[in-house]
Amino acid sequence: MGVVDEIKERLDIVDVIGAYVPLQRAGRYYRALCPFHAEKTPSFYVFPDSQRWHCFGACSEGGDIFTFVMKREGWDFATALEELARRAGVTLRPRTPEQARAEEENARLKAAVAEAARYYHHLLLHAPEAARAREYLARRGLSSETVLRFQLGYSLPAWDALRAYLTGRGFTPDELVRAGLLVEREDGSTYDRFRDRLMIPIRDPHGETVGFGARTLEAEGVPKYINSPQTPLFDKGRLLFGLDMARDAIRREECVVVVEGYMDVMQAHQAGFGNVVAQMGTALTETQVRLLKRHTRRLILALDPDAAGVQATLRGLEVAREALDRELAPVFNPRGLVGFERRLGAEIRVLTLPAGQDPDDLIRQNPDRWPVLVRESLPVVEFVLGQLLRQTDLEDAKGRARVVEAMLPLLRDVADPVEREAYAQKVARALRLDARTVLARLYEAERQAAQRPFVRSQPRSEAEWRPESADLEGYCLATLLSQPWLLDAVNRTLAEWDIPPLYSGDFNDPACRAALEVWEEMLSEGLADPSVLRERLPEVVVLRLEGLPKPPSGLSDEQWLREGVQAALRLRERNLRRRKAELRALTEEAPPPEVDRYGQALEENARALLRVQQALHNRCWALPPPGVETLFIEGEPR
Ligand code: UTP
Ligand code: MN
Repeated sequence: MGVVDEIKERLDIVDVIGAYVPLQRAGRYYRALCPFHAEKTPSFYVFPDSQRWHCFGACSEGGDIFTFVMKREGWDFATALEELARRAGVTLRPRTPEQARAEEENARLKAAVAEAARYYHHLLLHAPEAARAREYLARRGLSSETVLRFQLGYSLPAWDALRAYLTGRGFTPDELVRAGLLVEREDGSTYDRFRDRLMIPIRDPHGETVGFGARTLEAEGVPKYINSPQTPLFDKGRLLFGLDMARDAIRREECVVVVEGYMDVMQAHQAGFGNVVAQMGTALTETQVRLLKRHTRRLILALDPDAAGVQATLRGLEVAREALDRELAPVFNPRGLVGFERRLGAEIRVLTLPAGQDPDDLIRQNPDRWPVLVRESLPVVEFVLGQLLRQTDLEDAKGRARVVEAMLPLLRDVADPVEREAYAQKVARALRLDARTVLARLYEAERQAAQRPFVRSQPRSEAEWRPESADLEGYCLATLLSQPWLLDAVNRTLAEWDIPPLYSGDFNDPACRAALEVWEEMLSEGLADPSVLRERLPEVVVLRLEGLPKPPSGLSDEQWLREGVQAALRLRERNLRRRKAELRALTEEAPPPEVDRYGQALEENARALLRVQQALHNRCWALPPPGVETLFIEGEPR
């Protein structure tokens, strides 16, 4: 028995969830108001028999104790494992010496950064040299409460103030260099990285400081911000400024607003808009979307419409995009965003700021306007359409055709066929075209993708290629991890059949789930390598991976795709059947008004199940080979 099972065996889901949510017994299950969304009648259920929970309301999500605490606490799998193991009194396998060393090192670096933050903060509050910084903050309208909450600081205009202070407290210069606090010269000597700047601590989601953004007090002539470099602790693409403080508000508001700058976040929080975080000058990464998705699936991006990134992307200027300094200009990438929506089940909208204003200006001048803009935010596809229309002369037939062509790839990336068609009709209406014209172009593009010639190879018998195993999840995972392109190809195929994409929540085994999440993350970073995957996963997950069934070798791409799609469908079928059983149990015991609700859910479930079964039995065999068009690997042109 693995550690995960051992933990599950020792902890009862009713106790674990009951510690967070008051559960009410109702027959063979428990119910409560869903802790993940606002509701008046309880649609959150805990099933002691299967040790699972499910929200039949807006979330329509479920899982086991691991998913519950991960979602509720915003933990990653490793943290959930550690915590639940502790609660269950299960000892995790001792770490390898390297792991132990790396952890010790990280702890040292964290301690150094935390100590630096306290030091800078103290200086800002008390040092005479910091008078200008204090005036600056007052001028920008940041209150002393904000200074405390964000632990803002000031670095002295000296080359070795921090070094002297921290080496005096037992840190070595070498450690301080690795923590990003000191810079090393060629000759090996070191100096303070941050001098005479306003210091903004950047924390990880648990609230631990891992780096700094340092703003100059000068009006011009020097870089506005100097940030911590990439360190073992600090990775801009995996962090969001303000997230540690925004978590509760994000849950309450059931959405998160992503802005560009530190100042925007601090001003927003100060004005009472607590669900705001910043992406710190990089393009939004999949890792960041994943982080946010632990709290809400509704993301709103606050974009300055004049931002170089938006214009360049809309005009399709790939070259301009590459030339943009990524450090400074977050690149708006609509297709990437629609891809996140599809792959991650997120819902991304764009908030348009008045030209030339950032959230900081806007909120200071007119705080009431902010919630209005949030409400008026548009889905990515509609935002892009709006921007294109603004740049197009609608009297010009060529111009209108260009808009249609520019919108097609985006439309094709929309996972939900109904939504896709609705957008296509919107495009048509906006361009005063017959909807059928646009739809015809869309279908044609889709048909072209689907109609590549394919070799129909003989399906092999089940037993031959699919180890008949109780380990359906393991088999499915092993298949999906076998080819870097497979997961996305499978999901595109499912989408074409009107079946939602496979995601980690389809897996019951938290180790499989963790592996899939990290794998997806690696795919988005373009480094899908199984050995790297191992390095990024906790020991228990690696052990689980080692025990996975071995996928067959020597398959053609076509066979792989079929393999992957089948594995995904079988997993989905199992999950839908489970849901059906849960819903049945509920309808048996529910009072009349609720029976209706579950009746509806049952019908939906039956429809979804039917689609999956039909796909499984009729469509899988005729899959086209994954040519360049059907395989969309992040970052590659299609
Ligand atoms: P902004 O220029 O919008 O900065 O850059 P800001 O936070 O609004 O600051 P103020 O209002 O001008 O004082 C947005 C983000 O881009 C990153 C920072 O994370 C900043 O918050 N950035 C910007 C840099 O890393 N370096 C820079 O030189 C500029
Ligand atoms: Mn600003």
